[in-house]
Amino acid sequence: MKYAIVGTGSRHKMFRGAVADTYADKNDLVGLCDINEKRLALSALAVDKGGNGIATYRAEQFGEMIDEQKPNTVIVTVPDYLHHDYIIDAMRRGCDVMTEKPMTIDLSKLKAILDVQKETGRKVTVTFNYRYTPARTQIKDILMSGAIGDVTAVSFRWYLDRVHGADYFRRWHRYKNQSGGLLVHKSTHHFDLVNWWLGSSPTNVTAHGSRAFYQPEMAKQMGLSERGPRCYGCPVAEKCDLRLDLMADEALRELYLDAEDEDGYLRDRCVFDEDITIEDTMQVHATYANGAMLNYTLCAYSPWEGLEVKFYGTKGELSHRHVEVHGVFGGERAKAEGSEAMTTTLYVAGKPAEDLPVWEGAGAHGGADPVMLGYLFDPDMGHDRYGRGSTHIDGAWSILTGIAANASIERNETVHIDSFLSEHGIVLPKKEWKFG
Ligand SMILES: NC(=O)c1ccc[n+]([C@@H]2O[C@H](COP(=O)([O-])OP(=O)(O)OC[C@H]3O[C@@H](n4cnc5c(N)ncnc54)[C@H](O)[C@@H]3O)[C@@H](O)[C@H]2O)c1
Repeated sequence: MKYAIVGTGSRHKMFRGAVADTYADKNDLVGLCDINEKRLALSALAVDKGGNGIATYRAEQFGEMIDEQKPNTVIVTVPDYLHHDYIIDAMRRGCDVMTEKPMTIDLSKLKAILDVQKETGRKVTVTFNYRYTPARTQIKDILMSGAIGDVTAVSFRWYLDRVHGADYFRRWHRYKNQSGGLLVHKSTHHFDLVNWWLGSSPTNVTAHGSRAFYQPEMAKQMGLSERGPRCYGCPVAEKCDLRLDLMADEALRELYLDAEDEDGYLRDRCVFDEDITIEDTMQVHATYANGAMLNYTLCAYSPWEGLEVKFYGTKGELSHRHVEVHGVFGGERAKAEGSEAMTTTLYVAGKPAEDLPVWEGAGAHGGADPVMLGYLFDPDMGHDRYGRGSTHIDGAWSILTGIAANASIERNETVHIDSFLSEHGIVLPKKEWKFG
């Protein structure tokens, strides 16, 4: 299979490595495209193609890339608000698409994608790596076994620490019109997990959100009033535990600092800026087509990083906790080690609680990325009994909870998904996941 990648920032490296290296015997990377020629050149240098190297194209030459290189599939790793442009253009030009999450960020862009997908019949895959984290797949396995009966409610909390969480407030993510806010950009993973775990889709969504921490007043309280517009050259950088030092990390320096004169993309803008438009504290309540309920919290300035999820069922409860980072000390993250940090407990009514051995894996995102890449790029992987592959329909349902939550925060009311979709002329099949 021939692949081209559009968007040669940090995330594309995972796909480039899979196509051009790990699964190179079965695939061919034929082109790279980006708005920034320095990032393009860096990426091209990393691909060992021999001869004249790999073909690179500027953003306005995307069509030329497709015509000349004829990829079967275009991999989309540009910022979220641009996904729809490339997904649609690639489908219209006869290609399948593999896109990073979130598939897109609002309903008009979603409608445009769904319309063109229907018109062209092309395949859209949304790469939900979190489904493939072994510990999260294990939860699916337990729920599929019926051990806790029918799931009636889920309580789900996700904590981002002051290094990882802060990173969403430095660049394009920090504007709602570029990322959809964290309820879309980040929670698309979490709401997708809930949809997939439950095998259902949301019906009603109510949400609240605020920006409590990443705001100018907090910088004052932390003695950072003299802060500059970005970490690089900031007069109070030494005092700030949230700083990102682009000079200290060669990969970050090359990819962003050295390339910024091309397009003015600053990777390390101050996280306390006034003009940030996304929330850092969010709560959502949702109901599902199968009758289950969800209670969800996302905090982006937590002292530690990880997640807690509890499933309430007619026969018992299932509880999973993962501490990824114990704490942030002087800007340094104290990472927790593998299984030591994860617990999964099964409570079956009438029996003692059982601490289960947690499924583990090696590699990025808790061992998720390598498993997902195998299913994406190795045709011999065979059938996946957990149904982890995701289409445009899964991609759509995963962002709907967050888009509806944004609308709920704005309107201060519950959003009913059916009427929300029909107001925007969107017809989306109810997703009842089939496994086995
Ligand atoms: N699944 C995950 O765990 C995960 C992790 C990180 C990022 N992501 C997703 O990957 C995507 C990319 O994130 P990133 O961190 O690499 O961002 P990034 O900003 O580092 O990279 C984006 C790249 O797109 C390029 N670009 C910008 N405008 C363009 C245009 N008009 N045409 C072509 N190229 C353009 C930029 O120059 C840059 O090289 C995002 O959608 C993000 O949500 C997913």
